[in-house]
Amino acid sequence: MNPHKITDDIYWVGAVDWSSRNFHGYSLSPLGTTYNNFLILDEKVTLVDTVMPHLRSQMMCNVDQVLNGRGIDYLVVNHLELDHAGCLPDVVEKYKPERIYTSPMGEKAMHGHFNAKDWPIEVVPTGSEVTIGKHTLHFIETRMLHWPDSMLTYIPEAKVAFCNDAFGQNIASSERWADEYDRYVLEHSMKEYYANIVLPYSPVVLKTLDALTSMNLDIQYLLPDHGLMFRGDDVGFALDKYLEYAQQKPKKKAVLVYDTMWKSTEKMASAIASGLADEGISVKIMSMKANHHSRVMTEVFDAAAVLVGSPTHNNGILPLMADMLTYMKGLRPQGKIGASFGSFGWSGECVKILNQWLEDMSFEVVGPPVKNKFVPDHDAFAQCYELGKTVAAAIKAKVEE
Ligand code: FEO
Repeated sequence: MNPHKITDDIYWVGAVDWSSRNFHGYSLSPLGTTYNNFLILDEKVTLVDTVMPHLRSQMMCNVDQVLNGRGIDYLVVNHLELDHAGCLPDVVEKYKPERIYTSPMGEKAMHGHFNAKDWPIEVVPTGSEVTIGKHTLHFIETRMLHWPDSMLTYIPEAKVAFCNDAFGQNIASSERWADEYDRYVLEHSMKEYYANIVLPYSPVVLKTLDALTSMNLDIQYLLPDHGLMFRGDDVGFALDKYLEYAQQKPKKKAVLVYDTMWKSTEKMASAIASGLADEGISVKIMSMKANHHSRVMTEVFDAAAVLVGSPTHNNGILPLMADMLTYMKGLRPQGKIGASFGSFGWSGECVKILNQWLEDMSFEVVGPPVKNKFVPDHDAFAQCYELGKTVAAAIKAKVEE
């Protein structure tokens, strides 16, 4: 995609990856992704962030087109993860900037990633300002949103905030602005991105939103490094969405996630779901054979309850469930209700192991768990149905409290 003019002097010069489907274990939606970075034409020409290394030529073409023969004086590195900083060595080599501005932790990461000892790095902690001509760069660290080095760069003269990973979505598109794109897909992609990347840092999101409010920044352009960008009224929309996400208020919704060997655990899931649905709870049944853990996590994110099921397998649980639980635990969802179920043939450790995972994630575990030998019969289905009703009561108490 060609460069896109944001203001008279600020251009999008990023790259669109229509084919990307996996980002270090997080399965992107089939929409691909976009890496946004920006060029500011002023007395000191400034490049903000770069893109994923394999998209270097897309970005370089865009940069050169906007530069039209000029050079780059300054670089701003808001985040050192390689999907944004991976082209730094090429940019430094080609343009030989006078200064590279980054956060205190960014400097450390820059040396850790690159042979940067001769680079003209200048550390800009929160509160630092740099004038580049008509524009002033204001730097605000956003540590652990989502890496220690993360920072936001604000330009008051243009009412622009370069917010790096925050407010991103994984969408490849010809459109650059959220107001030009399908709203349902945008909102789903924002939720998916938050649930799979930002969720563990929700307390930092709340603090950052508070800090931005107290700074009273006038933001007309909120420019994340992934996906569609926000302008005008959409800036408030994006900020409100992050407040909602970070608060993790659950919906009257349950996710049943399970794996199964000979369909007994799957049948149990269906009976539990009936107990929940008959009490008016919205239910998603998600087989780990049919769903990537990222898809499941997107549904878990706003659910009040997560019910986990696995048969006993080699005195443990099935590997796809262990994968799911490992992934979920790392993302630290808060305030969930949990319950477990599963079939077994002889040793029957499954629900004990599943409940331990739920307790380790500080879920409010309700039960009793349902464990069934071999194929569930009428009595087993009745226990499952009852577990569904018990979880439904706990959800209603939590969501309506
Ligand atoms: Fe933290 Fe888009 O990288």
